[in-house]
Amino acid sequence: MAGKYVTCNLEEIVVGEPLPCNLFIFINFRFITYLLAGDSLSRDAYDRFDFKKVKTLFILAADQARFEAWSAKAKALVKGATGGPPMLPEIAKARDEARRKAMDIFQSGHPDKAIAQTLQVSKNLVDEVMKHPYAVKSLSQLQGFSQGTVDHSVNVSVLSVYLAMQMGYSHAIILQQVGTGGLLHDVGKTQVKILDEDSVSVISEKMKAHPELGVKMLDAQQKVPNEVKLIVGQHHEHHDGTGYPKKLKGAQIYDLAKIVSIANVFDELVTAASGTLVERQRHAIKQLDGPEAHKFDPQKLEKSLKILKLGV
Ligand SMILES: [Fe+2]
Ligand SMILES: [Fe+2]
Repeated sequence: MAGKYVTCNLEEIVVGEPLPCNLFIFINFRFITYLLAGDSLSRDAYDRFDFKKVKTLFILAADQARFEAWSAKAKALVKGATGGPPMLPEIAKARDEARRKAMDIFQSGHPDKAIAQTLQVSKNLVDEVMKHPYAVKSLSQLQGFSQGTVDHSVNVSVLSVYLAMQMGYSHAIILQQVGTGGLLHDVGKTQVKILDEDSVSVISEKMKAHPELGVKMLDAQQKVPNEVKLIVGQHHEHHDGTGYPKKLKGAQIYDLAKIVSIANVFDELVTAASGTLVERQRHAIKQLDGPEAHKFDPQKLEKSLKILKLGV
């Protein structure tokens, strides 16, 4: 019976894309159907495997060729074929370093030490970003396709720093606060307790605790600047008061949190869209300019849209 199944890497499953075949997990010495063909893996579900270091899932051996073709096609679509220049090697290196550290935090039950180290890696990332102020002319320099929250966090960090720079924030300390806030904004997701029986709506309701859980984690650290905690705690607040957790409005929201919240929604929209990376970015810009606009400070949104439009 077991010979019927073969492993597939978590990273080969493209989040949000309908699967070409059934997907299985192995629990209590049995293969259990986890998702059916046509269903797609959500980012939250991807994170739960990723944070627990579950690297492989299972498909039927008979589906292997179809699965591999599907994965290769979807990945080529989002990663390559955009026509844009490849990411600058220095930025790519600093991103990798930040990604590894973020991964340590998200996978560790005791992230204290890793959080302290994040301050250094995000400083390096911001240094590289500051050296390349014109990289913003191509968004492919700033944003890779993000499957899970770790890659998303790196994207939000880099995008937030660029947006802040282009808006005129030039002080290295402020930009580092933005970069660290971006990298850690979703760190509270590691503390949300999800049960196997939780439905999608229960999970998304529970997830709403992540900004405050993140602040709690950072409060336990001596070296984390207050500005970073404000970004983490307020990144889901909306300009019109419809956000969470505190339903803050307009000027009640910390300035740097407003920038990170734009980068955050932008990266989420890109992941949720379909097509090539550039097509997704264009779609996300339209959404920011339309149905999502009420969430953001109008002046900061206007500037961000100008900057983002230059890059696609
Ligand atoms: Fe978040
Ligand atoms: Fe986020």
